[in-house]
Amino acid sequence: MNVPMEKDIALLSEVEVRAELERLAAEIRLHDDLYYNKDAPVISDSDYDELRRHNRLIEESFPHLIRSDSPSQQVGAVLSSGFRKVRHARPMLSLENAFTPQDVENFVSRIRRFLGLLEDDRVELVGEPKIDGLSASLRYQQGKFVLGLTRGDGIKGEDVTANLGTIEDIPQMLEGSDVPAVLEVRGEVYMTKDDFGHLNQIREQSDEPPFANPRNAAAGGLRQLDPAVTASRRLHFFAYGLGEVLQSKESAGIEYPLGATLIEVRKRLSSFGFTLNGPVCVHSDVTDIVSYYEDVVSNRAAFAFDLDGIVYKVNQLDWQSRLGAMSRSPRWAIAHKFPPEHATTLVKEIVVQVGRTGALTPVAELVPVTIGGVVVSRATLHNEDELRRKDIRSGDTVVVQRAGDVIPQILKVDLNKREANSQDFLFPENCPVCGSVATRGIGEAVRRCTGGLVCSAQAVERLRHFVSREAFDIGGLGEKQVESFWRDGLVTSPADIFKLKNSFKVLEGRDGWGKTSVRKLLSAIEDRRNISLERFIYALGIRQVGQSNALLLAHTYGSLGALIETIAEASDAKSGAYENLISIDGIGDQVVAELVGFFSQRNNMDMLVALTDEIKVEDFVGGSVASPVAGKTVVFTGSLSTMTRAEAKAQAQALGAKVAGSISKQTDYLVAGAETGSKLEKARNLGVHILTENEWRELLGVQGIV
Ligand code: IVH
Repeated sequence: MNVPMEKDIALLSEVEVRAELERLAAEIRLHDDLYYNKDAPVISDSDYDELRRHNRLIEESFPHLIRSDSPSQQVGAVLSSGFRKVRHARPMLSLENAFTPQDVENFVSRIRRFLGLLEDDRVELVGEPKIDGLSASLRYQQGKFVLGLTRGDGIKGEDVTANLGTIEDIPQMLEGSDVPAVLEVRGEVYMTKDDFGHLNQIREQSDEPPFANPRNAAAGGLRQLDPAVTASRRLHFFAYGLGEVLQSKESAGIEYPLGATLIEVRKRLSSFGFTLNGPVCVHSDVTDIVSYYEDVVSNRAAFAFDLDGIVYKVNQLDWQSRLGAMSRSPRWAIAHKFPPEHATTLVKEIVVQVGRTGALTPVAELVPVTIGGVVVSRATLHNEDELRRKDIRSGDTVVVQRAGDVIPQILKVDLNKREANSQDFLFPENCPVCGSVATRGIGEAVRRCTGGLVCSAQAVERLRHFVSREAFDIGGLGEKQVESFWRDGLVTSPADIFKLKNSFKVLEGRDGWGKTSVRKLLSAIEDRRNISLERFIYALGIRQVGQSNALLLAHTYGSLGALIETIAEASDAKSGAYENLISIDGIGDQVVAELVGFFSQRNNMDMLVALTDEIKVEDFVGGSVASPVAGKTVVFTGSLSTMTRAEAKAQAQALGAKVAGSISKQTDYLVAGAETGSKLEKARNLGVHILTENEWRELLGVQGIV
């Protein structure tokens, strides 16, 4: 495999990056096809993962070059079309719903009528919790797991065999000797509430939107193109029924080979190695069934997973066969749904929490109320727009709902009960944790603290970023160490890292550390006392300033001092500094707003002073010193005939020029292709040197560079 080293990525020119991303997209597409459609992969899973990882790393550094057909952009499209469609041997049906005990009575009466039962005949129903996940069908041939399908439209499902194969509850080989020649097991794939909470926490930390409920998270996990991702989601499976069953020669001819009742089938499935779902009940009296239902409802919170009802199924399989199915659901089963979980309570106070990425989230502190067996004392209000839309205030009477069993939400306010003196909630413009300004990007719903490293709510995450490979690259200072040093007050800001050498004894005495490991760490830290400007800018962890923007800024301003000075001036949007910043191709007004927000914080400036007391930030060293355009600011306009604008830009940057998007007093050259517009006129007015495409090429060619 031919993949660039991580450390080389930042040095690639845009032309090279473009070519590399194109190559990776094609290569990954080829392997996807071999793996998913042809069942004939030619590279190992880990080599495949490596290709995707490199694609991601390059895209992180050059987000403006992400291709629309990049593997990273295929989440929706390829997930739904990237799996082979396979017809189910027996359709996968859905269930009718019952909401009241009367609906259950009616269900039983219908069965009795359909089967023409006598008054004394009892209809035994098996009751089983209904887990809110997604159904799957597993096919075993001679005891071996050969095909796993999603429900799809009930007739055809998607082949997710590889992903289902990562779920521990799904046996690869059936246990026992007397296994059917073909056995299709139907069941539910789901995620536990704990795993769901954990997954959302991680997503939030990496700025990904959280899943609304465990069901969505499980569905997303199952429909991943990469089975390793499915495995990491820790999905579960329980078996609830059968699809096609073909007997082995020995027991051929037996009509219900796995047992004459559902309860017997459950036992056989369990003996094959499947997990079944409980508690089950077997009753023929609707009063008993409903009392089992109520027991489960009141115990609902104690289950490790989300339940959304109870399924009742006719126990006798020959009756199931006679009853058959309507168009979408069987006549022998029904889902008794749980009541929606609402409750009314009072908002004690609205508080604003700060997440690890600095996001400010309003949360309502409630007078505790029990909803579906769980005591709820807080509800998320999502963001300030949502809070305003629902007009929720301290002291309000509100209806709270537990959505997906996990995140309680406020549905509405009872305005009739609002106190006369109630006051609008004023969303803070400063971080409630560190006091820094909290800003909202254009078009963004979330307000964020700009405190970064000085905000304790964000500090650990930021410190991790600071020492990461693409930033200060301090080996030996991994996530765990950063977290524990921070917890113990050893490192609360970046400058502290460089003062660790004064704490040799303390470090040496820590669990898991000794003289040698401390020496190694301190020497790794010493190696980083000189750092390049672009790494330094990136290490600050300013939102929207990734590696590529950091490089552009370093390239344009050359030194930390010049950068800080420009940004200070750019807080005035009418200043030349602002215009200069915004004219850098790739830097937009949102990036400038983040930069201005960061550098205007006293806390951040104090942190910078402390840090630069410890380290030396080296001025930017341009790529080609001999180039006649090194350090010059160039603007391209009109269409070029010998190359695309992007190529011309990449070439100019490779030769040390700064490429800007608009003309300003700082512009050295305007390269004008055909069909130019207002830029040409502006350049003339400002006395900017105007070059034709040929003159530009000659300028570069004189030095023998092109
Ligand atoms: S029996 C013909 N048992 O609920 C389908 N289904 O809303 C027989 N479900 O598609 C299904 N827990 O995916 C059955 N214990 C359980 C279930 C269960 C969840 C799902 C199943 C079905 C959906 C209908």
